[in-house]
Amino acid sequence: SYEQDGDEAREIAKHLPFYPFKGIPRFYDIGGFLAKPEVFQQIVDIFVARYSGGDLAIDSIAGLDARGFVLGPPIALALKVPFIMMRKAGKMPNTISSNAYDTEYGKRSGLTVQRDRIKEGDRVLIIDDLVATGGTLSSAITLVHALGGTVVECACVVELKMFVDPPEGSGLPSRKRLFES
Ligand code: PRP
Ligand code: MG
Repeated sequence: SYEQDGDEAREIAKHLPFYPFKGIPRFYDIGGFLAKPEVFQQIVDIFVARYSGGDLAIDSIAGLDARGFVLGPPIALALKVPFIMMRKAGKMPNTISSNAYDTEYGKRSGLTVQRDRIKEGDRVLIIDDLVATGGTLSSAITLVHALGGTVVECACVVELKMFVDPPEGSGLPSRKRLFES
């Protein structure tokens, strides 16, 4: 929970306490670290070190529209690998689409990727700012698999733990399906 997070976590995931938004009681944003270049750099460095070789070596990074587009490119540039846009529907030609999916903010129409961005056997890292229900990441995993790629890992900066194992009767969607993807 936010109360248990340390000062560093609060700097990274800015929680806007009195701004309920789209029906959810708390809105988390990466505006916290974007406003602090030294924290932003630290985050990029951690991911660059993790994916720079060995078992976790990657061929490309797929960033998720929109906030994954902020975090993915500096990491892709540092690792000298291509950056792939996974966009919301209707924005790019020659794409494949995932099915509609649920997120913490409600239903989404699915993500799309251009067919020629991922080749059979490519090792792809998926990057987004935040994971809540895992609906968005599941959608991205589906697209990588559909083009014959392998998902090396999904990397996010913020994890909303309440979706890992939602309390009985809370009505919150579970993140279990992400692990079934
Ligand atoms: C937010 C966030 C993640 C997703 C997480 O994106 O940036 O992508 O929700 O929720 P989930 O784990 O329940 O799928 P959103 O679609 O709201 O919009 P944005 O990135 O375009 O701001
Ligand atoms: Mg998003």
